[in-house]
Amino acid sequence: MTDPTRRAEELRQLISRYNYEYHQLDAPSVPDAEYDRLVRELQALEASHPELGSEASPTGLVGGQADSAFSPVRHRRPVLSLQNALDQEELQEFMARMGRAVGTDEVAVDLEPKIDGLSVVLRYRDGRFQQGITRGDGTVGEDVSHTLVEVRDLPHTLKGAPAGELEVRGEVYLAKEAFLRLNEAREAAGEPLFANPRNAAAGALRQLDPAVTKSRGLNLFCYEIRHPEDLVETQTEALAALMAMGFPVPPDSQRLVGWDDLWQAVSLWQERRHQLPFAIDGLVVKLDHLPTARAQGATAKAPRAMIAFKFPPEEVVTTLERVVWQVGRSGTVTPTAYLTPVRLGGTVVSRATLHNAQLAKSRDIRIGDRVVIRKAGEIIPEVVRPLAAERTGQEQPLEAPRQCPACGSALVRNEGETALRCPNEACPGRQLEAFCHFASRAAMDIDGLGPKLLASLLEAGLVKTPADLYRLDERDLLTVPRMAARSAQNLLAAIDRSRRRPLWRLILALGLPQVGAHAAERLASRFESLFALLEASEEDLCAVPDVGPLTARQIRAWAADPVHRQWVSELAGVGVLGEVAEPAHGGEGPLRGERLVFTGSFAVPRQELMAAARAAGALVLSAVSRRVTHLVVGDKPGQKRQEAEALAIPLWDEASFRRKIEGQDS
Ligand code: IVH
Repeated sequence: MTDPTRRAEELRQLISRYNYEYHQLDAPSVPDAEYDRLVRELQALEASHPELGSEASPTGLVGGQADSAFSPVRHRRPVLSLQNALDQEELQEFMARMGRAVGTDEVAVDLEPKIDGLSVVLRYRDGRFQQGITRGDGTVGEDVSHTLVEVRDLPHTLKGAPAGELEVRGEVYLAKEAFLRLNEAREAAGEPLFANPRNAAAGALRQLDPAVTKSRGLNLFCYEIRHPEDLVETQTEALAALMAMGFPVPPDSQRLVGWDDLWQAVSLWQERRHQLPFAIDGLVVKLDHLPTARAQGATAKAPRAMIAFKFPPEEVVTTLERVVWQVGRSGTVTPTAYLTPVRLGGTVVSRATLHNAQLAKSRDIRIGDRVVIRKAGEIIPEVVRPLAAERTGQEQPLEAPRQCPACGSALVRNEGETALRCPNEACPGRQLEAFCHFASRAAMDIDGLGPKLLASLLEAGLVKTPADLYRLDERDLLTVPRMAARSAQNLLAAIDRSRRRPLWRLILALGLPQVGAHAAERLASRFESLFALLEASEEDLCAVPDVGPLTARQIRAWAADPVHRQWVSELAGVGVLGEVAEPAHGGEGPLRGERLVFTGSFAVPRQELMAAARAAGALVLSAVSRRVTHLVVGDKPGQKRQEAEALAIPLWDEASFRRKIEGQDS
């Protein structure tokens, strides 16, 4: 047994050091998970040994970022899950049960979409946001206030909220579009894809760095008033009250009476679900009258008076017509299935991923097969399995190519990797993919510069390196087949608009190995320029959160390659350097142009002030540098204050910050 006093002291020192590295140096030396583990160990120790006192402990510091991030929070009452009805019969049984409970067949229920996201509990006091907690194990959740404030439709101040405590439950989710974009970027960076929006939302919320959460574009729906329990009488009123206070609520929720009306409404949802901009995995049916619902009680897992009706996974059968092997920009060669077009989940699907050659082989998928397809996470079509019983004997097994489909080079398979690779750096197929990635929405976002056009530009020799895009003129473009003056001008304007994209987009666009949007953001905020990134040592790179030794080595090798160094200097030559910070949303308001850093504790949670600063047009940064215009200083400021003074950066206290926000002095 180790001595708890000694261990607590050890942990406090370690955590304080990691806090300092993370917040002040922006250079943590341990992964987030390790930090979380230590915080949890200390919290557990402090909870079981009250004599250790925690006033001065890093676990006791409120209003900070990582200090409260992911701390365990006990729920006021269990945050339950839902029982499921898997088919019509089970739903009908539920309605019959409710009928018996209320003594009539004409049971009034509320029907809501079941959002495929992550459950959160939100606490407000006197109408102001206080804290957001994950569901956790239902009894204890994690404090995720620091990232929740970056969820764009989370209301910070409520309209007409009850005095005192208000606790609301909702679902944080990622819209289909945001989910697709995120996976596109991950795929481009060779990172594992998120299987569904729920996992992606959880990943985005469970971040130490709120800026990452923000960039993922999370949304929120709220559907339950947990406290005060008697604020309203019915679920229908609960949704109306939530909406009136400023919460987003699940759209198209309906009050229905009796089985027939309910079933008809459920049936209508089967099609409508696909038209929504977010994924739902079913519907929730809730007894409308809340006191009666509460009287039904709950099992260990779920309340008795509500039920989830899960949509059966939608699968369709079609024919696999052919398989096309394509080379990606990093050289990986992957199969895409071309299918006889078929309707699935609200769209017509004619292509599906086969992931990789080995997976396709292990599922024994053959060309000409009747295959079952479905949408992974409701969104990305994939081939699930062949219907072997329907084979005619004409089907062809998949042959993995030996040569690159674009340049004919012999393919290689690196040790320990499943993917086939084209080793030719100058492969035209890889180059085309690299340019497509550069111009893509996820990266430099150049409108109208798609694969066809890029292929023509490459073929004509008009672009060879990224900087060449910025040297194109109308005369060049008019040599491209089917390009008219008007479209040439539009394209030039779109290219021009991309010149000032933020640095992280440029880093992402250049396609460094293993670098997705997330890592690009980290690298951008650590190095602040492409040149600094090129000069960074493996050690410097390793100090960046989420960059492991292997990635660091690969980035280093990339940066040492004269071709890539040439790209960067040419880009600088045409004025494309990557802006250091993406302007805050719109950037309009009394604090427009301000770059602020916050330190110390304030009368309200720091995140709230930061959010207010952003809303007023300021950019909120995490570390002091010469570019910071003001340091906002609260009680017990940290090291940042000395750093700011050393750079002669002017200070604001909370009161003057508030005056600026209100535009009272300038
Ligand atoms: S009501 C006491 N309503 O689905 C249970 N849940 O599979 C309260 N969910 O854990 C839940 N949309 O995270 C409710 N409109 C909705 C929902 C919803 C999504 C989630 C929730 C729950 C899970 C159960």
